Parts: sequence; structure tokens; C-alpha cells
Amino acid sequence: MARQFFVGGNFKANGTKSSITQIVENLNTQDLPKEVEVVVCPPSLYIDLVVKENKQPTVQVGAQNVFNKPCGAFTGELCAEQILDAGAKWTLTGHSERRTIIKESDEFIAEKTKYALDHGLSVILCIGETLEERKSGITLQVCARQLDAVSKIVSDWSKVVVAYEPVWAIGTGLAATPDDAQETHKEIREHLVKTIGKDQAEATRILYGGSVNGKNAVEFKDKPDIDGFLVGGASLKPEFVNIIKSRL
Ligand code: PGA
Repeated sequence: MARQFFVGGNFKANGTKSSITQIVENLNTQDLPKEVEVVVCPPSLYIDLVVKENKQPTVQVGAQNVFNKPCGAFTGELCAEQILDAGAKWTLTGHSERRTIIKESDEFIAEKTKYALDHGLSVILCIGETLEERKSGITLQVCARQLDAVSKIVSDWSKVVVAYEPVWAIGTGLAATPDDAQETHKEIREHLVKTIGKDQAEATRILYGGSVNGKNAVEFKDKPDIDGFLVGGASLKPEFVNIIKSRL
């Protein structure tokens, strides 16, 4: 089954009104391929700005985080209803910086994912192992545990995109090799076949994330289980466009 190529840009806590406007203006001037789905995730403060400035029909906007409850007395949080109200259609959940620095649990991430999906957002669900976990040979076990927390409470995965992001590859310049990434993506898909069923597993896009840039993106081109990228640092730079075009 053909899965639509997908490129996400995670700006993290970077940028200002001026620099983010420049990024969007640059994207607006590009001839982007119609068949590539692009989602940019600015800091939540700038979602409104990006939604208003974006003129590209294939570029959508997402939040980087969402809460697991409706709007209410949750100081500092952002609810799914507000993200939608601002014009964004997506959110990330489970980014490793939230798992490791903010100490979000698998269960909490699963609840956020479910709440977001139930209220109309699409979700880029991030998973991945740390260097210690990789060295101990438990990469798949970790990814399976993170996925299982979600599949336990979410049965419809049609609005979920999985981003496999080995923690050791994020922001380090040390991307996984295309062969290693393909091997893990294949195992992730095989695991999903067991938990959410063959049809859904085959339809679910699995992105690779971790030090993807304008040069190395093309090396992943022929890997059958790599359906796109989640890009951090390079999504703030003009080379993001090369990543979007890397499958042409
Ligand atoms: P990076 O980040 O591309 O800067 O490695 C990826 C991510 O954290 O999503």
C-alpha cells in the first residue's frame, strides 16, 4: 500500500515572531511537491502567527504538546480545543525531550494522544530508545512498550503518524544509518501488525527523526518502511525544503 510521504518540522522552543515569520515566508515562496504532507510545529505561542502567514496548501500546522484534559484549571497547559481553535490540526505527543526532561510517562502520553484524537486533532506520536537502552539491545522492547500504552486505549490509528526518534540521534548530528533505521521501522511495523492489526499497521506512516538534514535525507529514499521524517534543527533552516523534496 502506498503511504503518503510526510515531513514534520519541530521547531522546539526556538524562534521569535520575526524568525518564524521568515521561515514561513521562505516556505511560501517554494514550489513544494503536492504529494508531500508537511506539518510544522512552532512553539504554541506562535501557532496563530504560522496559521495566518502560511500560504502553502500542503503545509499544515501542529502543536508540540497537548494536555490530556479539556480546557480548565490547568495552569500552563494547552488543551486540544484551543489548538484547534487557533487553526492547527496536529500535535506531537511523546517527544523524547518531554519523556526524559519533563518525565512524562507512557501512560500520560497515551492519555494525551487519546484525548487529542477524540477531539479532532491528528497526532505525531514520538517513540524511541536512549543510548543505554540501545546498548542493552532493548530498542524494540522500548518502542513496543511506548506504542502499547497507546494501543491499549486507542483503537483507530487512522489519524496517528508514528515518529521513531532514537534519543541518541536527536540534535547530535549522528543520524541512524538508513539500514539501521529501516530495520527498526520494519520491526515497529511488525509489532503494530500484532497490536492494531495488519491493515492499520500497513497504513500507518512511520517517520524517522534524529539529525535529518538537507544532505542525508535522500539516503533514506529507498527504504520501504521509512515514510518520512520528523525534523528538528534543520526545520528552522532553508534546507528543510530539500528534505521535503528528498523523495522526488
Ligand atoms: P533534530 O531533532 O532533527 O534536531 O535531531 C529531531 C527531533 O527532536 O524531532
